[in-house]
Amino acid sequence: MDERLTVAMPKGRIFSDALDLLKEAGLKLPRELAQDSRKLRVEAPVEDLSFLLVKPVDVPTCVEHGVADLGVVGKDVLMEEERDVYELLDLQISPCRLSLAGKPDWQPVLNPKVATKYPRIANRWFREQGQQVEVICLNGSVELAPLTGLADRIVDIVSTGQTLQENGLVELQEITRVTSRLIANRASYRLKSRRIDKLSERLARVVTGEGVLR
Ligand code: PRP
Repeated sequence: MDERLTVAMPKGRIFSDALDLLKEAGLKLPRELAQDSRKLRVEAPVEDLSFLLVKPVDVPTCVEHGVADLGVVGKDVLMEEERDVYELLDLQISPCRLSLAGKPDWQPVLNPKVATKYPRIANRWFREQGQQVEVICLNGSVELAPLTGLADRIVDIVSTGQTLQENGLVELQEITRVTSRLIANRASYRLKSRRIDKLSERLARVVTGEGVLR
């Protein structure tokens, strides 16, 4: 049985933290597994691993469809995408929060417009708050929305707070805390459970500070 594992890695904010974690777990990885690499599939023959470098939002898609056995992805993307995958481990890397933000002088209006990359999460959260809003879906530079009048408020990731600050916006309310997770394809988890458990355990030991398992 083919025991090689394919791992979907998210290019962008999480990538270097995820790579550091894999290295800390003692995995011997090729140099070409790097954020700035144009190569989209990287083999790590020593570990019998194959990596796919994809957009964060595409990690759960690759894992659900089984082109990757495993994936590293932020809880924000996982919550938004609602894919049928196993969440194996909280890797506790790239911590940030998903928050409601806006201009400091914002006055309540009826049916405010909220710009976000997370329409499902935002719609659900506002519904739970009993607030009616119009959600406007953007794919990036969400902080521009309140500055240009496209939206009254935003729901977006806040990490250092620098993007909000540099655009004269303030965090109004935290919606949820976010860290990155290890996810698995359901069939892979059954068919390759030995290898997946071993890799997951190696990562878990780094996360909990128990030391490297080789
Ligand atoms: C996220 C988020 C904010 C920024 C927040 O974007 O959408 O724009 O990071 O980080 P900060 O609080 O440290 O300033 P990301 O860099 O993931 O890229 P994207 O906008 O292309 O999704």
